[in-house]
Amino acid sequence: MSQKQLQSVLQQMPKAELHIHIEGSLEPELIFELAQRNGVALAYESVDSLRKAYAFDNLQSFLDIYYAGASVLLKEQDFYDMTMAYLQRAAADNVRHAEIFFDPQTHTARGVPFETVINGIWRACQDGPISASLIMCFLRHLSEADAIATLEEALPFRDKIIGVGLDSSEVGHPPEKFCRVFERCRQLGLHLVAHAGEEGPPEYIETALDLLNVERIDHGVRCLESPVLTERLAREQIALTVCPLSNIKLRVFDHMGQHNLLELLDAGLAATVNSDDPAYFGGYMNDNFLAAFDALPLGLSHAHRLARNSFNASFLEPEAKRAFIEELDAFFAKV
Ligand code: HPA
Ligand code: ZN
Repeated sequence: MSQKQLQSVLQQMPKAELHIHIEGSLEPELIFELAQRNGVALAYESVDSLRKAYAFDNLQSFLDIYYAGASVLLKEQDFYDMTMAYLQRAAADNVRHAEIFFDPQTHTARGVPFETVINGIWRACQDGPISASLIMCFLRHLSEADAIATLEEALPFRDKIIGVGLDSSEVGHPPEKFCRVFERCRQLGLHLVAHAGEEGPPEYIETALDLLNVERIDHGVRCLESPVLTERLAREQIALTVCPLSNIKLRVFDHMGQHNLLELLDAGLAATVNSDDPAYFGGYMNDNFLAAFDALPLGLSHAHRLARNSFNASFLEPEAKRAFIEELDAFFAKV
């Protein structure tokens, strides 16, 4: 199969996206449109100058700009428009199902009511072209008490979220800081995930599993530094939601040729490919697949496996999962 044919397979194959921060899908054009609509002053005078400011070299330098970008989101319709734009873009990449992160504290801290955030995002998911569900993330640089208060605010909307996650500045904010709030979420029947092993050490992956009881690890690429942990992740088939372009932009790896995606797969891990913050990191789902497959010796069987992992690791009901995997296998039977 030629490189061109492989690229076409990557684009056309059905897939699920399990690691996308909806605030990270806010494109500079929409930031400017919303700023104008809401009368919010921006520190940049044009779309181009904003885009030029996207020169991060680690997680924190990205987060500073990402939180500033989110400041234009004030009304329910703003959250709706942002989410609908993502869902349409994902559909064009043949994403069939997305599990979308949102960061309520980024908005409630600015005085935007919780219900404004969730109602806008949720309504877009109902109207959008693909299957979608919501995972509420706690910001780990804030206190556990703040996370608990956010969970309380979410309780009236329990039926609109399928799970909770943990994001923002990783180093210095280990998973165990959030033991109690995650235990309460577990008792509520919510699915549990956490970012771990992106910039933080493999120990954070272990404590996320053992102390927070998470079902998936977001990023997790530093697991390979611990053979014992790698072996465990393979044995228990804990999914990793890997984000190749994000890892390059935030210098987790120097360049795509050094990304460890193939090593993760070769170690028997349930790795998936995702976009993380597509408006900031240079691409949506298919851009991530194309960049990784272009730089690494990955082929057709890896593509099939990554897409299958994405449906398997999703929180879809077994029947929906089976239907998507059937569609996927039928697709690969014809290539
Ligand atoms: N890591 C941590 N927090 C985040 C990320 C990320 O990749 N994207 C948005 N918030
Ligand atoms: Zn992330």
